[in-house]
Amino acid sequence: MVKKRYAAALAAALLFLTACGGKRDETIRVGVALYRQDDTFITSLSQYLQQIVPEQEEARDVKINLNVVDGRGSQTTQNEQVDQFLDRGYDVICVNIVDRTAAAVIIDKAQAAQVPVVFFNREPVEEDLNRWEYAYYVGTRADEAGRIEGGLVLDAWRADPGALDRNGDGVLQYVMLEGEPGHQDSLLRTEYSVRTLTAAGVPMEKLSNNAADWQRGPARLRMQRWLEELGGAIEVVFANNDDMALGAIDACLDAGMTAEEMPFIVGVDATAPALRAMEEGTLRGTVLNDAAGQAADILALSCALAQGEDPGAAVELEDEKYCWRPHTAVTRENLAEFLPEAP
Ligand code: BGC
Ligand code: CA
Repeated sequence: MVKKRYAAALAAALLFLTACGGKRDETIRVGVALYRQDDTFITSLSQYLQQIVPEQEEARDVKINLNVVDGRGSQTTQNEQVDQFLDRGYDVICVNIVDRTAAAVIIDKAQAAQVPVVFFNREPVEEDLNRWEYAYYVGTRADEAGRIEGGLVLDAWRADPGALDRNGDGVLQYVMLEGEPGHQDSLLRTEYSVRTLTAAGVPMEKLSNNAADWQRGPARLRMQRWLEELGGAIEVVFANNDDMALGAIDACLDAGMTAEEMPFIVGVDATAPALRAMEEGTLRGTVLNDAAGQAADILALSCALAQGEDPGAAVELEDEKYCWRPHTAVTRENLAEFLPEAP
C-alpha cells in the first residue's frame, strides 16, 4: 500500500518535471519602457501585451519574462530604465519613447550592448531608426488615422449637410484638439483630417485649436472655455484621441447639452469608454487604433529577435524596420463589431 502510494507520487513528480522541462528552461527577457503608464491607450496596449504572453510562451515553448516600467513622462527616467534593462542582460527592449527626437541615444546604447530595440506608438525620426539594423518600429500610420477621422465627418456631411452646418452658411466651423506637441499623431491627424474634407470640396473654417496633450481633463477645460467664447458656433470637434473627445463631451454635458445639441464630435483610438460614449450617442465616430494588434506584433517581433530568428517571418516588415497595423473607422453602423462581447 505504502509502496503503491510512493509509486503514484513518483509518477506525478515525473509528469510535473516533463511538463516543466524541454525548452521551457529557456527564458526570454523583454523590457518594456512606457512613456506614461496613465495614458488610457498605452494602458490598454500594455494590458494586451501581458495578456498574450502565455500564447507566445505556448507557441515558442519558452518562458517569457516581461518587465514593464513607467517613464512618467521623463526622458531622463526612461534612459535610466533602459540602462537598467541593458545592465541586467535583457534579450530585447521595447521603447514607447518619451521624446521621439531622442531615440539616437537609446539606439546607440542598445547597439553597444547588442540588444535589439523595438520602438512603438511614438515614432522615432527615420534618420535615428536607420542608425542600426536592429532598431524597429511597431505602430500605425498617422496620416491614415487623420484621413479616416476626416472621413467620418465627410460621410456625415454628405448624408445630411444641414445637420452639421447649423448656421447654414455652407461652411463647417470646427475646433481641433490636437494632442501632445511634436507627436507624429498630433501633427498628421490634424493635417489629414481637415485635408480630407477640403480635398472633397467642403469649405472649412477653424475657430480654434489646442494641444490638450492627449488628456481628458485639459480637453474638458478647453472645451468649457470654447463653449463660453464660441457657443453654438462650433459645428465639429476634431479630437485626435478619444480621451480628448471624452473631455469635450464632459464639457458639453456640464453645459447641460443633450447628445443632439452637441457639436459633431469625433475621436481616435476606440478605447472602451469611447465605445460606451458612442453607444450613448455623444461620440459620433472614432478610429480603431488597434492596441491588441500592435501588442501582438511587438511581442512576436521581440521574441523572434531574442531567439535570433528572421524578424520578417514573425511580422510583416516594411523596409525591414517598420511594422504597421491598419486603422478602421468605427461608426454607429458598425459599432457592435467593436463592443466587447457580453459575458
Ligand atoms: C493615441 C493616444 C495616445 C498617444 C500616446 C496615440 O497614438 O491615439 O491616445 O495618448 O498615442 O503616445
Ligand atoms: Ca457652418
